[in-house]
Amino acid sequence: MKPSSSNPGTIDFFFCGKSEDTKIHQGLIDRLSNLDDQFFPTPWNSQKWNEVLKHKSGSYLIGVCHDVERVYGFALFGTSNPDSAHLYKILVDPELKRQGLGRTLLLDAMSLLKEKKHKSVFLEVEQSNFEALGFYRNLGYKVLVGKKDFYGPMRDAFAMEAIL
Ligand SMILES: CC(C)(COP(=O)(O)OP(=O)(O)OC[C@H]1O[C@@H](n2cnc3c(N)ncnc32)[C@H](O)[C@@H]1OP(=O)(O)O)[C@@H](O)C(=O)NCCC(=O)NCCS
Repeated sequence: MKPSSSNPGTIDFFFCGKSEDTKIHQGLIDRLSNLDDQFFPTPWNSQKWNEVLKHKSGSYLIGVCHDVERVYGFALFGTSNPDSAHLYKILVDPELKRQGLGRTLLLDAMSLLKEKKHKSVFLEVEQSNFEALGFYRNLGYKVLVGKKDFYGPMRDAFAMEAIL
């Protein structure tokens, strides 16, 4: 059956990295890396995904919508700064866009981060990514500042923030 907003798999959240015992299955890491590689504007390679989710060099929260075969969407935050969590990546499979999955991933993660006493979420987004800008604005994120050439020459970013 084609996945839909009423049946897109389950959403799990994992706190991982330094001082967390969470073990994320290699198959899940590979599926995250594949989806990122196919559809994220600035993908990481699989080595970086393994570093982040398996090694103990930082602290992270990841929310994943998945079933046994597929990952449908994810949101990944750096949580090393106790005040402000950093949203590194949020992605929804293009087949499932505009059905509320991104909103659920982001708002549920923000509730968990608030429970962990983070006060805000911070992110960068490319100024030409109107889809993501509309999404973040809809969910209460405000532009803090522009960052020239943040993603490379002529690829400016906005830094945005939401207070939890
Ligand atoms: C940004 C992204 C995660 C949004 O996920 P999504 O599941 O499609 O978003 P939702 O359906 O939950 O949308 C929630 C709200 O965001 C806004 N929004 C979402 N997509 C939008 C678009 N293309 N244009 C304008 N507003 C948009 C809308 O207000 C929407 O509410 P509505 O549908 O009731 O009007 C998704 O578009 C994506 O994966 N983009 C590619 C990866 C990316 O660029 N990530 C961000 C990098 S910084």
